[in-house]
Amino acid sequence: MKLCVIGTGYVGLVGAAIFSDWGNTVFGVDIDEEKIKRIKAGEMPIYEPGLSEIVLKNISEGRLSFTTSIAEGIKEAEIVFICVGTPQSETGAADLSAVWTVAKEIGQNLNGYKVIVTKSTVPVGTNEKVKQIITENLASPVEFDVASNPEFLREGSSVEDMQNTDRTVIGSDSPKALEILTSLYTHLGSPIVATNLRSAEMIKYAANAFLATKITFINEMAQVCEKAGADVTMVAKGMGLDKRIGSAFLRAGIGYGGSCFPKDVSALYRTATDHSYDFKLLRSVIEVNYGQKDLFMFKATRFLGTNLNGKTLAILGLAFKDNTDDIRDSVAVEIVKKLRGLGAQLKVYDPAASDNARKILGDTSITYCSNEYETMEGADALFVLTEWKQFAVLDLAKIKSLLKQPVIFDGRNSFDKDTTEAQGFTYFAIGKRTNGLEKINGAGNNYSATLIKNGSH
Ligand code: UDX
Repeated sequence: MKLCVIGTGYVGLVGAAIFSDWGNTVFGVDIDEEKIKRIKAGEMPIYEPGLSEIVLKNISEGRLSFTTSIAEGIKEAEIVFICVGTPQSETGAADLSAVWTVAKEIGQNLNGYKVIVTKSTVPVGTNEKVKQIITENLASPVEFDVASNPEFLREGSSVEDMQNTDRTVIGSDSPKALEILTSLYTHLGSPIVATNLRSAEMIKYAANAFLATKITFINEMAQVCEKAGADVTMVAKGMGLDKRIGSAFLRAGIGYGGSCFPKDVSALYRTATDHSYDFKLLRSVIEVNYGQKDLFMFKATRFLGTNLNGKTLAILGLAFKDNTDDIRDSVAVEIVKKLRGLGAQLKVYDPAASDNARKILGDTSITYCSNEYETMEGADALFVLTEWKQFAVLDLAKIKSLLKQPVIFDGRNSFDKDTTEAQGFTYFAIGKRTNGLEKINGAGNNYSATLIKNGSH
């Protein structure tokens, strides 16, 4: 099939690459000339395992091309995917301006029947407006259909996720469009949920909000576990083996971040409000997630003090999760800002995200190190803020020899509590008591109550 993918962010670039790898002829389009030049030269604008190999292979085999012109990109295409960004606006709703701009240009250049598919995460009703904008901008009467085909890939494993999707969701009010899109995906062998436009748009938000709720549930369980002397990792394991619950997204931590969950949960809450429904559960999810990093900071400052002048802290992890260089809405970056704000000197390391973080954080009071151990030399404590797997296998004896005092604040439960404590560390994890510090253990709950009472977010 001949396809056009507009937008070369995570969804668009990975989508264009994988579609071409399936044997389709694909045009990727982006208004950013510099970005298109770099991609053509094989330089990926995002860090995503396996992506550059697929892009380069399909460019060289003639199935994948890139352009800055929507007119050129859509000319021959049977399906046009809109994959532009839908960031959070000031009101919490999704900012759809890029979608509207693209729809207008598609309308102006439409030269024959095509299915126009929105892959970006967009609120219910967006595709109907896309249809209206295209219709209003047609140069001459041309038949077309719109469809919704939300993407469920995760950053850091997007290539793998798109090839091995659990399901494909296609929404359209046109049987012809449903048939064309179904034919693109049937070879995957996974279930295809064909539905109407509005349900497809809603599925993506419902899935992300549910996953964010699952994380938030385990984060709140972590508070109770700490107070009651249970271990949240074991509790999550015991719960997750129940097939009805499942073990994924039950890792307690410093709260979810990234470019999707925070914005999508807010946007769904906003959609509900717009329809005169107060989605109380989601309101709590947003509130609890916001407070999660403060609980972690509270734990750290109870031990280290709130004046960190003269203290050096080792920081592992800046990305919002492992296997990515993305720092958008990264809780790690928020915590780094807070620690620096209290006067600490920071020595930081992330396997992929340091350059991006430096653009936001600058160099004041921060030294960017080239490996994990370099951060720890002479530091007063070690903080683990991103769940990179390579951090979990670091040599604890070496860490102890490098730190000024053996203290770890592990925001991702990367280390084993018993092993770490047996080696003489004072180990602060999430949802596990710290040995010998009964006064600090469980203090989080009082703090959480204060946060809610003061409405401090
Ligand atoms: C998410 C959805 O998973 C994906 O389906 C959708 O298409 C886009 O949004 P992504 O944001 O790339 O993907 O990352 P994800 O792996 O879902 O992690 C999101 C955040 O939750 C990260 O900050 C991560 O650290 C955190 N997280 C995840 C936890 O704190 N605990 C967990 O158990 C899982």
